[in-house]
Amino acid sequence: MNFNVLLQDKVNEVDDIVKSFLPEEKGYQQTVLKAMNYSVLAGGKRLRPLLMQEVFKLFSGNGKVVCPFMAAMEMIHTYSLVHDDLPAMDNDEYRRGRKTTHVVFGEAMGILAGDALLNYAYETAIGAFSYVGSGDSAQTGRIISALKVLGRKAGIYGMVGGQVKDVEATENNEQIDKDTLQFIYNLKTGALLEGSMVIGAILAGASDEDIKKTENIASKIGMAFQIQDDILDVIGSAEALGKPIGSDDKNNKATYVSLYGLENAKAEVVRLTNEAIDLLKDLPGEKDFLKELLLWLVNREK
Ligand code: IPE
Ligand code: IPE
Ligand code: MG
Ligand code: MG
Ligand code: MG
Repeated sequence: MNFNVLLQDKVNEVDDIVKSFLPEEKGYQQTVLKAMNYSVLAGGKRLRPLLMQEVFKLFSGNGKVVCPFMAAMEMIHTYSLVHDDLPAMDNDEYRRGRKTTHVVFGEAMGILAGDALLNYAYETAIGAFSYVGSGDSAQTGRIISALKVLGRKAGIYGMVGGQVKDVEATENNEQIDKDTLQFIYNLKTGALLEGSMVIGAILAGASDEDIKKTENIASKIGMAFQIQDDILDVIGSAEALGKPIGSDDKNNKATYVSLYGLENAKAEVVRLTNEAIDLLKDLPGEKDFLKELLLWLVNREK
């Protein structure tokens, strides 16, 4: 099957899974429920749950235990975007082809919708225990490990930690060095991609060694993905991206592109992607789709 058709099929499947875990818009708090669903249902590439599912299958995972984690990861990612767009952060008005959540629902509701998505993500992921057969302690243990990874990669040693240094460096107009840039990118963007792929591996019962290999591959994908995001912020189209271009420049943000130039940035995305593809060889299973997905990401326009 043609890659683009296959990708669309898989994204549709992921979409259905994510949607099935979203809250109903009813009750006195329904405004925040509407804001949560507004931001998640706006779409997006669904890259994180997609990677989670692909890695789960690579290690011969089966059953539905991965589904609540896929939805939880997309909720956490979406919350990170809702907060990232707030006036106090990147102050952006479009996301996923729509007005940002705080523009539509107001700033307070934007903050609360982010809080709500983060919290509901854990409520959702914990629901994975309901898929465990009685007495299956191995599966219970895997879910506990996956929950730990979810918490770690989203928090101060993960995405939040990266956003903190990103915001601080931008506010203070810091001249950041390569190590600091690497720290920011690894955490603000790499962490959730690592978490996604590692959770897929853990839930499928992969060995510790294979989990480490998976994390290493994901870290390269994360770095390449953020550099490509920076590139698109300069040469992309707002229409294709569904978010404004020039956001980094507007905020005077030091990025891989502003520090090392467009051509070096493009070369680095290719180099990291090739490294990741090369390392895929060490993992079991059928990897053609994953490989094509990584190549697609290099040339993505959204
Ligand atoms: C945007 O992530 C934020 C970054 C980490 C660069 P995506 O580019 O995956 O956003 P969606 O989910 O497709 O909207
Ligand atoms: C965001 O990086 C990473 C997040 C944790 C949201 P950016 O600020 O570059 O992401 P976009 O360009 O707004 O999607
Ligand atoms: Mg940002
Ligand atoms: Mg931003
Ligand atoms: Mg960006």
